[in-house]
Amino acid sequence: MRYVSLEGRRVPALGLGTWELEGATCRETVATALELGYRHIDTAQGYGNEADVGAGIDGSDREELFLTTKLGTSNLSTQRVHSSTRESLDKLGTDYVDLLLIHWPAAFERVDETLSAMAELREAGAIRHIGVSNFTSAQLVEAARLAPVACNQVEYHPFLGQQAVLAAAREHDMVVAAYSPLARGAVMDDQTVNDIAEAHDATPGQVALAWLLAQDGVMAIPKASSREHLQENLAAVDLRLTDDELARLDDLERGQRIIDPPSAPNWD
Ligand SMILES: NC(=O)c1ccc[n+]([C@@H]2O[C@H](COP(=O)([O-])OP(=O)(O)OC[C@H]3O[C@@H](n4cnc5c(N)ncnc54)[C@H](OP(=O)(O)O)[C@@H]3O)[C@@H](O)[C@H]2O)c1
Repeated sequence: MRYVSLEGRRVPALGLGTWELEGATCRETVATALELGYRHIDTAQGYGNEADVGAGIDGSDREELFLTTKLGTSNLSTQRVHSSTRESLDKLGTDYVDLLLIHWPAAFERVDETLSAMAELREAGAIRHIGVSNFTSAQLVEAARLAPVACNQVEYHPFLGQQAVLAAAREHDMVVAAYSPLARGAVMDDQTVNDIAEAHDATPGQVALAWLLAQDGVMAIPKASSREHLQENLAAVDLRLTDDELARLDDLERGQRIIDPPSAPNWD
């Protein structure tokens, strides 16, 4: 495994994304991931699968696991931060989450209130670290002024550069978690990614993940739902690309954003 340092904590740089995993598939996928060696799981209130993720992690050594969930946009008031997080903990079957994120900066005007409530949860031991998701670099700087924000989770893959977010995150000692790191499957069809994969007897998905993990302070949370895909993605932590290959992957940047709802901020 590779690790990043998040407020001094060693966190597995490769985790499992669970968006769109539901019911028995979710429970079995999470349990299989743990069996294969994953120790970092990402969910959200909005995914409707926290109880299934909870069933999947049941029986595992909680202290060894890094578990993230996210506050939905209707849960950003002080009262809802507290009550919805308690509901999340109940569903997940745990006393704390390692990382609680504001899922979207949809109510950025009240971010101070939300972050203060998250700080109270941290004080109470219900969460270990405070983070955000889909924040622009300017929003990140403002959030960092208000609270010890440890992470920004954003879409990041070879077709979407995140230089401004990365620079702001590094300046404030935060890690960046790359979501949709496989560009939701699109990396599989790219010629350059395939050429590099062939040179290493690896798969295109592994190349995209290795490119992310080679970057300082970057974690990746690919979603997979078969044992084969889970195994393949985890093995990407052992793939080392050359400087030339990393540069060729940097050059694939084309501003291709996949997750872009109407409520999204003015992206960098
Ligand atoms: N914060 C946010 O707003 C936000 C937004 C989007 C996503 N996320 C998080 O990031 C996670 C990952 O992003 P994502 O789910 O959008 O996309 P992704 O991880 O880039 O791609 C997932 C897709 O790739 C396929 N796949 C996975 N491993 C593969 C492999 N080894 N070979 C071939 N295909 C493979 C999966 O298929 P199978 O299922 O068939 O394996 C699935 O169709 C989410 O699950 C979620 O936890 C967060």
